[in-house]
Amino acid sequence: MTKHTVTVTDNLTGKEVELDVLSPVVGPKAIDVRRLHKELGYFTYDPGYLATASCSSSITYLDGGEGTLMYRGYPIEQLAEESSFLEVCYLLLNGELPNKAEMQGFEDIITHHTMLHDQMQYFFRGFRRDAHPMAIMVGVVGALSAFYHDDLDIHDPAQRMRSAHRLIAKMPTIAAWSYRYHMGLPFMHPRNDMSYAEDFLHLMFATPCEDYEVDPLMAKALDVIFILHADHEQNASTSTVRLAGSSEANPFAAIAAGIASLWGPAHGGANEAVVNMLTEISESGESLQHWVDKAKNKDDNFRLMGFGHRVYKNYDPRAKIIRELANEILDRLPPDNPHQKLFDIARELEKVALEDDYFKQRNLYPNVDFYSGVIFLSMGIPVTMFTVMFALARTVGWISQWNEMMGDEENRIGRPRQLYTGAEKRDYISLEDR
Ligand code: CMC
Repeated sequence: MTKHTVTVTDNLTGKEVELDVLSPVVGPKAIDVRRLHKELGYFTYDPGYLATASCSSSITYLDGGEGTLMYRGYPIEQLAEESSFLEVCYLLLNGELPNKAEMQGFEDIITHHTMLHDQMQYFFRGFRRDAHPMAIMVGVVGALSAFYHDDLDIHDPAQRMRSAHRLIAKMPTIAAWSYRYHMGLPFMHPRNDMSYAEDFLHLMFATPCEDYEVDPLMAKALDVIFILHADHEQNASTSTVRLAGSSEANPFAAIAAGIASLWGPAHGGANEAVVNMLTEISESGESLQHWVDKAKNKDDNFRLMGFGHRVYKNYDPRAKIIRELANEILDRLPPDNPHQKLFDIARELEKVALEDDYFKQRNLYPNVDFYSGVIFLSMGIPVTMFTVMFALARTVGWISQWNEMMGDEENRIGRPRQLYTGAEKRDYISLEDR
């Protein structure tokens, strides 16, 4: 078969370079531009990496045009319907679904790594009570690096895997404690007889004074939400984890960097922004069309939060599943529940926006964050915890991507170039002469 190449000609000098075209298993091909600088002296310019594949990966594939998402080849719809979050964790980390013994072994490992070192509680206590839980997450997850000095050889696959297990296992405890500290509630310790999602609800809402009964529907819904958020290929936070890790920083520090990146409202902070927006709409008394018009107005920086995606130019498949989940949960709650109004506004807003030419022409559809916030509220999870929930679920994706990168022979320290637009060389003038 002839090698597929692309020839780039410099119209100024007439020089040419032939660049290889790389074929993925599915999805668009990529031009290998590495020889461009060597042969022609040029870099490529791509702010925000809209057209750049930063690595090769066998973990997650998404087709934004079709609206499909697969982990290790398995469609997200099938995993959400039939799998469990811990099974998905195993799949993302190891590449294959586990057999029964492997699954049991994995559950056992995760269950027995959920406790935090007793000293960790002092990190929490060092924060102000009104600290945002994400601020606590960034600090405490980074601080995990200080507890495993003897097990942080990133060139040893077994030690890397142990760090992955520790992170997946401890994240619910850290996340719940960041909430408990904020609320002035005593820290609860993990329960080994509960599933991952059940234990998280217990860590969040139980008290030492009485037994806590987990609502099975809420635990199931949470497990599905965790599956939907587990990985999403090279998004901002995952790319941050890879970039931080490419300098051979330890995995806890790299994941803390990912949490920081996730915090922004354009990424993981969007579900918090959605609920704030729905509340503002509800309290404003203005029509939904008013808000849609506001989002379209280029002189107004208001955007419909939970709408649009860098990659999905079709309905986000995760949003479809989560919308059904929200229906199921709200159907079970009494119609006068306090979250029903926000959910009704969300459904109506989606309808108005999807019929609007502005949104149609730009392929702006609801994304995963559009309905997740309403579900969290109905579980009793406060708005400030929404991005923490995302971080908890995404940890497995981050650490799987980091682990893949560490085992990749092509991995080098990430070091993008720039198009310099500053001053040309000039001489320093002393302060008296300026
Ligand atoms: N409301 C109104 N207009 C929008 C919106 C929106 N939510 N999103 C995009 N647009 C417009 C944008 O103004 C631009 O219009 P024009 O072509 O006239 O200049 C066009 O659509 C393309 O948008 P863009 O900002 O160039 O697209 P992007 O790929 O850079 O941004 C995005 C993607 C997700 C940051 C953006 O759609 C957005 O800010 N959405 C709201 C925040 C949100 O929901 N974020 C969660 C993302 S999904 C969760 C995750 O995976 O992290």
